[in-house]
Amino acid sequence: MKVFINKRIPEIGINLLKEAGLDVSIPENENLSHEEWLSYCKDTDAILNVGHHTFDKDFFEECSNVKAIALYSVGFDHVDIAAANQGNVPVGNTPDVLSKATSDVAFLLMQSVARRASYNFQKVKEGNWGDFDPLHALGQELYGKTLGIFGLGRIGFEMAKKAQKAFDMNIIYNNRHQNEEAENELNATYVSFDELVEQSDVLSIHANFTPDRKDLFNRSVFEKMKPNSIFINTARGGFHQQTDLYDALVAREIWGAGLDVTNPEPMMKDDPILGLSNVCVLPHIGSATMEARDGMARIAAENIIAFSKGEQMPHCVNP
Ligand code: DGY
Repeated sequence: MKVFINKRIPEIGINLLKEAGLDVSIPENENLSHEEWLSYCKDTDAILNVGHHTFDKDFFEECSNVKAIALYSVGFDHVDIAAANQGNVPVGNTPDVLSKATSDVAFLLMQSVARRASYNFQKVKEGNWGDFDPLHALGQELYGKTLGIFGLGRIGFEMAKKAQKAFDMNIIYNNRHQNEEAENELNATYVSFDELVEQSDVLSIHANFTPDRKDLFNRSVFEKMKPNSIFINTARGGFHQQTDLYDALVAREIWGAGLDVTNPEPMMKDDPILGLSNVCVLPHIGSATMEARDGMARIAAENIIAFSKGEQMPHCVNP
């Protein structure tokens, strides 16, 4: 069986595929244009896909040779699952192995924004260390404050656990379903979306992105948030309306924002958000640890190998 990997992944994944006797191809040039990528896809049985190439209805029609897709990500918002189902194409993802790493980044952003790390780092870089000043560069402490999680799944759970251990934060959440484990272990409380927005001192998004959630966090939401609240997005940039977020940050309707995902992505270097002192922006590095990336390579390979043996993928999003 032919497997096309569009970008080099950690060796552990490539070795597993080769040991399973699969015919693996990785292009020399990893920055493929859409047309080049498509032509590789037309000549393979399975794809191990890194990044956000769109697998839409047209793709499944044009590449009916593709029998399985293993994503090198937990998110699958770039795949039209209905179209995959129609073509009987199983789609695998890589959950769990990146939950700690991604929630670490959410936690890091929360702390950075609360203590104004970007602003202070910028001052040091500009040679403006400044004298000790009792009234300047003051951040805020998070002890005993309320962390609101939108999407309390695996990553949200890890974020909530850390916040509770480190800062004794009170956890509230809104989700499609109630999370009994979080209610029992973290004393988390299910609240309505509006209550989440109005009561959170830190609001952190950890949900799957779906088209009906586009721009869910917009002007009317930012207006309802507390003036000292912190907005964190490590999920998908599509969740927030970025101009509305910019306006809320400029007007100090909220304290600040920490973003590992932006809208659009990548964020351009002249984006006005980058000129603000109350933001910290990272280039989508949630899962960028050696441990998580190895785990993702292993799971993506295992998904393909299971399929090649006629078995169910261990992590299939459209069983
Ligand atoms: C994921 O795994 O979904 C990360 O956001 C990388 O795409």
